[in-house]
Amino acid sequence: MLKELKEKLKDCTNCSLCSSRSNIVFSDGSENAKIILIGEAPGADEDKSGIPFVGRAGKLLNEFLSNAGIDRKKDLYIINTVKCRPPENRKPTKEEKNACGKNLEAQIKAVNPKVIILCGATAFESFIDDKKMTISKARGQIFEYKNGIKLIPVFHPSFLLRKHSTEPNSPRDLTLKDLILAKELSNL
Ligand code: URA
Repeated sequence: MLKELKEKLKDCTNCSLCSSRSNIVFSDGSENAKIILIGEAPGADEDKSGIPFVGRAGKLLNEFLSNAGIDRKKDLYIINTVKCRPPENRKPTKEEKNACGKNLEAQIKAVNPKVIILCGATAFESFIDDKKMTISKARGQIFEYKNGIKLIPVFHPSFLLRKHSTEPNSPRDLTLKDLILAKELSNL
């Protein structure tokens, strides 16, 4: 099912991002994973390679995953809220997110994870409709999706690139704890 969806999306023109993309950035990791990680949107490196989280933010994410004992290739299925790069790395619009929503849902349904890690505000807002709930307030809490799937909001690695401290309760320290919690909840 995922193979067919990926094939079908190669010619996707459901939103205007199709006119500037080089590649659809469909997924990375394992379709049998117990954890899905959802980011915002592809950047320049991802657009070029067709693989999510391979640029600077992706490299930092890899460090955090490995420190949390999560194997990126085996334990995770990695996707983005939208599959094509927004020009100049702007945030995807509501229309673009809506146009890509069915793809996201189909990927979640096919993988059927125990836990979804929501990386940053864009991914979080696609699941939780609460204008007052910022990512700083949301992280540390566990939300529920369909079929008992747990949602774990975390800071986006692009934000962590600007926050270097690893002191207790710093964004980096909290993110590591959140990832360890995600791993525990997935029974890995
Ligand atoms: N940021 C994201 O949210 N996703 C990527 O794939 C890369 C950077």
